[in-house]
Amino acid sequence: MGLVLIAWVSDPLAESMARGKEVYEMNCVVCHLGQGEGLEGVNPPLAGSDYLMKNPEKAARAIKFGQRGEIVVNGVTYNSYMAELGLYDDEIADVMNYIMNSWGNKADTLITEEWVAGIEKE
Ligand code: HEC
Repeated sequence: MGLVLIAWVSDPLAESMARGKEVYEMNCVVCHLGQGEGLEGVNPPLAGSDYLMKNPEKAARAIKFGQRGEIVVNGVTYNSYMAELGLYDDEIADVMNYIMNSWGNKADTLITEEWVAGIEKE
């Protein structure tokens, strides 16, 4: 028991993902849905999203400042609008770690609050 707890507490990705899951369920699940599958042509997917996994900086900018206009996700064009969600940088880092490491997604780097703080509006 003790060992399991220590192993979990010392895993920054697992900790961040656990917080990020809560952020996701409160702020994102209504549009991107429970398995990150989205709704084709309306709300783009996060599961298997080339946009998210190849451009984490653009994805973080979208979450931080909102996203309007044409984007292509897995070959499907979306020309819609995601409002600025009013999240703190640490919440954005946590939700990024969650969506980039769930539903088959696997990122090779940990997103930090400092990295999110450095993302500027285009
Ligand atoms: C009201 C619906 C809605 C909510 C809530 C919402 N999104 Fe989005 N999201 C969209 C739409 C629509 C787009 C595409 C916008 C466009 O066409 O420019 C998008 C785009 C994205 C993208 C880039 C494209 C992709 O699929 O990889 C990411 C990443 C993303 N959202 C993550 C999030 C996260 C994380 C949250 C919660 C913190 C969130 N969204 C909340 C509707 C939503």
